[in-house]
Formats: sequence, C-alpha cells, structure tokens
Amino acid sequence: MSSTQGAQVLVASNRGPVSYVTGADGSLTARRGGGGLVSGLSAIGPDTDAVWVCAALSEDDREAVRRSGGRLDPADTGGQSVRMLDIAPQVHTEAYNGIANSVLWFVHHMLYQTPLEPVFDEDFRTQWASYEAYNQAFAEALAAEAAEGAAVLIQDYHLTLAPGMLRALRPDLRIGHFSHTPWAPVDYFRILPDDIAEKVLRGILGADRAAFLTRRWADAFEECARRVLGGTGNTRIGVHGLGADAEFLRERAHRPDVDERLAALREQIGGTDRRTVVRVDRTELSKNIVRGLLAYRHLLAARPEWRERVVHLAFAYPSRQDLAVYRDYTDEVARVAADINAEFGTPTWTPVVLHVKDDFSRSLAAYRLADVALVNPVRDGMNLVAKEVPVLAEQGCALVLSREAGAYEELGEDALVVNPYDVIATAEALHEALSLPEADRVARAGRLAAAATALPPKEWFLAQLGELRG
Ligand code: G6P
Repeated sequence: MSSTQGAQVLVASNRGPVSYVTGADGSLTARRGGGGLVSGLSAIGPDTDAVWVCAALSEDDREAVRRSGGRLDPADTGGQSVRMLDIAPQVHTEAYNGIANSVLWFVHHMLYQTPLEPVFDEDFRTQWASYEAYNQAFAEALAAEAAEGAAVLIQDYHLTLAPGMLRALRPDLRIGHFSHTPWAPVDYFRILPDDIAEKVLRGILGADRAAFLTRRWADAFEECARRVLGGTGNTRIGVHGLGADAEFLRERAHRPDVDERLAALREQIGGTDRRTVVRVDRTELSKNIVRGLLAYRHLLAARPEWRERVVHLAFAYPSRQDLAVYRDYTDEVARVAADINAEFGTPTWTPVVLHVKDDFSRSLAAYRLADVALVNPVRDGMNLVAKEVPVLAEQGCALVLSREAGAYEELGEDALVVNPYDVIATAEALHEALSLPEADRVARAGRLAAAATALPPKEWFLAQLGELRG
C-alpha cells in the first residue's frame, strides 16, 4: 500500500480541529473543537503540511464528509488539511463512549467506584470489537495517506491500537503515539482484563516512540509495560509538557467580544472590590468540580470575613452528555452551587456564579478577572487552564492547584498545592490564595506565566516531530 506520493506528516485523533453544525437553512458551519488535545494540535498550522485524520463525531459531521468527500474545505479549517473519517455510527459510539470514555478514561483517571464498576462482560467484549474496528479504520486511512517514510503522530487513548496496526500495514513509517491523559499506576491498570491490558500496551508499543505530558505518566506506562509484557521493547519513551499559547491567548482575549463579556461578568460580581475565584472546566468527573464547590462553601462557613467579599465564577461546560454518569454529575454541580447560593447569598451578593453554556470568550474574560484560579482535579494529564489563567489575569492571580494535575510538575513551586480530596485543606488554600500579599501574588503569577508558556503548542508539536525523525 505504500506510495511515493502522499503526506510527509500526519496527525490522527478522534476529535478533529472542527466539528459541524447545520443551520436552519441547511448550511453547515464549522466550529473549533474543545479540550486540551485540540488546543495543542490546532497550533500546528497549515505550514507544517500535516494532514490531520479525525473521525466524524455527529450526524452533521457525517453530512460534511458526504459533501466534501472526506477532505474538509480548508476555508473551514483555517487552511489545515483535514481528512474526516465516516466510521459507522454504532462502531464509533461503542469505541468512543463504550471503551474510550467509559473504560480507558476511567482507568487512567482512576474513576471507578467499586462495588458497582467496572464489569467486564459480553457487552464490554462487543464494544471492544468496535474499538478494534475503529482503530483499524484509522490505521488503514493513515496507511493510504502517508508518503514513504512519513511521520505519523497518533493521539490518545482512543487510538491505542492504531500504532501497532499501522506498523503491520506500513513498516516504512515513523510512528509516534502521544497520551494526553495520565497513565494509570500498574495495580489500577490491571483492572483491565489481561488480554485487553496486553493489547493496549502492545498497540502503543507498535510506535517508534510513545510520549506523555509528564515524567510521572511516562514512568507509570513503563512500569505497566515492564510488569505486563516484560518491557517496552524498542519503543522510545518521551515527555513533552504542553504549554499555553501566550501569543494566541493575549490577542484573542483583548477582542471586543471578550471586553463585552468582561463587563457583563463585572455586573454579576457586583461590588467594586470583590475578589474572584475562577474555575473553567468541562463538566468532567475527574475535574472534581463538586469538591471544589464544597471547599468554597467551607471557606464561607469557616471564614465569614469572606462573605460578600468574594465571588466564585464557576464555568462548567457540558461534556460527554451521552453518558448517564456525566449527566448526573452535571445535575449535582448545579445543585451544590444552588445550595451555596441559598445558604449564603444576600440580595446584593451571589456567592457562586455558575455558567454552563460553553463560551470561550466568556472564559477568557473570567481569566482576565481572576484573583484566584481553582484547578483541583482528582487526576489530569496536564490541565491547560492552570497554565492559561496566569497568562491573562490582569492583577496577577494566585493558583490553587491539585498535586494530581500534570501541570503540578511545572507549576507546583509557585502554586498553593492541594490534595484534591481534602475539601478543608482546599478551603484553607483558597483563603491563603485570597490573602497573599499583592507583591508576593504578582511575583508568583509572573513565574507561573513563564513556566506555563515554556513549551507552546507549536514547539511542543515540532519537538515530537524532530524526535521521531531524529
Ligand atoms: C481532554 C483530554 C484529552 C481528550 C479530550 C477528549 O482534552 O485532555 O485527552 O482527548 O479531552 O475530549 P472529547 O470531548 O473529545 O471526548
């Protein structure tokens, strides 16, 4: 199947740079995808000549594939060449919701709750077959698109088998795999049925190089490979800590639409000298939003001096709503926020301003206003919010940061670090963050912003490419 024509650089991920929505008149509009993976890869830009292979995620995406023949209109993608695969809906759903989001995501973020989960039964095996078919579809598309000796960068837990499958089809290629999540510690990883654990590891080890966001996740992967398979074979292991894109953020955050949102948020905050605690997340179990709210509640209860003087801007945007556990979690977040407002609110003060409608401009406005950023995931591959807020906060914000976020490795020294399960300690950290003397806060924020932008997305991508070709 090898060809002399074709792309020299390819990227593969489940979610592509854009997804489509159909308007009332039947026209399709492209929207930029969300999440850390897309933020990182979007910066690769058309000038690298990379072809990005991704999956259609909705009926509107499938319609766009039908209309374009699978090669999206560059006008929709900012010039990026994108090949979107129309994988049969049931196969995609079982692979994405069933295996990737309900099994592999849960394993790497250690989210299972014994005694009810997980159960690896017949349904799981059916979904696993779809996951294999989905990975095979990517491997075949990449094999068909790649020039002789091309570099192929395969992303994340959706595509753990594709590297091995692609290697079998095209031994000439240089294949990299990148994990945007944590990697589970070996005892937790071995929750997976033995044959599945082996397939996942062997699939990734089909790559020439497997890379991670932090040394901690890379070490966990190596330990899994050692204990389950006896080693990592010839695959090299690398670490690339994706940083924030300061240039893009600064430009984007000072456009008129953001200024407008900023004015609206100031009204919601009320009072001119109120402080803000800001969080922006997908409504995701691993982000630990409920414990964050409970910590804020504890702050107001235990330190009444903050009542009327602080507002928590909590932005929790819908995610993976096809899964019941995410829908329930979304309800729980709204309930806890409402309870806090009922308990402490006054006619002139709303303690928690919860926004659930995804609005990037409003997120940027909140970043600019932040006195404190709250980033308390129970586990997170990196967490780009922790890196983005210090870049934009106009008064130099303090960062309350979970030690279980990948970003802790780079930002831990200047953040107020918390055990994410400990709501009392998190409340205390919020108090400390709100109380930092200005000079200290500003100095820390400067160092946080410098560390956060050390490896911007484009450099992050080019470093991987360089290592793969080197
Ligand atoms: C976050 C994670 C990525 C993951 C992405 C998928 O950004 O950091 O590891 O690939 O979510 O999210 P999605 O909305 O596509 O399920």
